[in-house]
Amino acid sequence: MKRIRIAIDGPAGAGKSSVSRLVADKLGYEYIDTGAIYRCLALLMNDTVKLEDAQGIKALLKDFDVSFRIVEGVNRVYVNGHDVTGYIRTEKVSMLASSVSALPFVRDALLAMQKKYAAKGGVVMEGRDIGTVIMPEAELKIFLTASPEKRAGRRMLDLKAKGAEMSFEKLVEEIKKRDEQDAGRKVAPLKKADDAILVDNTNIDLVKTADLIVKYANEREISS
Ligand code: DC
Repeated sequence: MKRIRIAIDGPAGAGKSSVSRLVADKLGYEYIDTGAIYRCLALLMNDTVKLEDAQGIKALLKDFDVSFRIVEGVNRVYVNGHDVTGYIRTEKVSMLASSVSALPFVRDALLAMQKKYAAKGGVVMEGRDIGTVIMPEAELKIFLTASPEKRAGRRMLDLKAKGAEMSFEKLVEEIKKRDEQDAGRKVAPLKKADDAILVDNTNIDLVKTADLIVKYANEREISS
């Protein structure tokens, strides 16, 4: 059976990471979280390199290598060899990642890195522009979404599990703001590819969502 490429795109909080991990596990595929790449860049910028400082951002991109490894069930993220898994999920990094990802030179610089991950097949890659820009030739494309309230609710549970708190209203507001920023940008905006399957998981849990995608994948593995 052919090991296919699976692109999973969608807005923040749609469950892309959990679902993609489950799908990759079930199929024995590699899992690539492209949002983590933008988050790593945002983390490196920290408070020293500002969004307006193109030269500073370009300097960071010159020596920028992101890798992933599953350790005891956790997808650990490394930037230039340092484990940053615990630092890239804050709301501050989320917003900065969204802002820096709108810069065309940043997207250009990170394109080759992402295409390299896709080259072998047997991969589940998730992000915003995977089906449209990074792997337009993917055998299976999914656009995963859910209502903003449902997505904010999931974020709230995640935060609680990590011991952090944020009001539900504030989370809905941030989710909507990030949607606007990710879908409204000029380059590679968040958008469903014409040939992507729309999966709305407002009313289905993440395990059932993954099962559905695995079913589509099995059909594609046979017919490809
Ligand atoms: O998936 P995420 O929430 O970890 O992504 C963080 C930000 O990175 C997101 O707000 C937009 C950006 N991003 C992107 O522009 N393109 C991708 N393929 C993945 C993420």
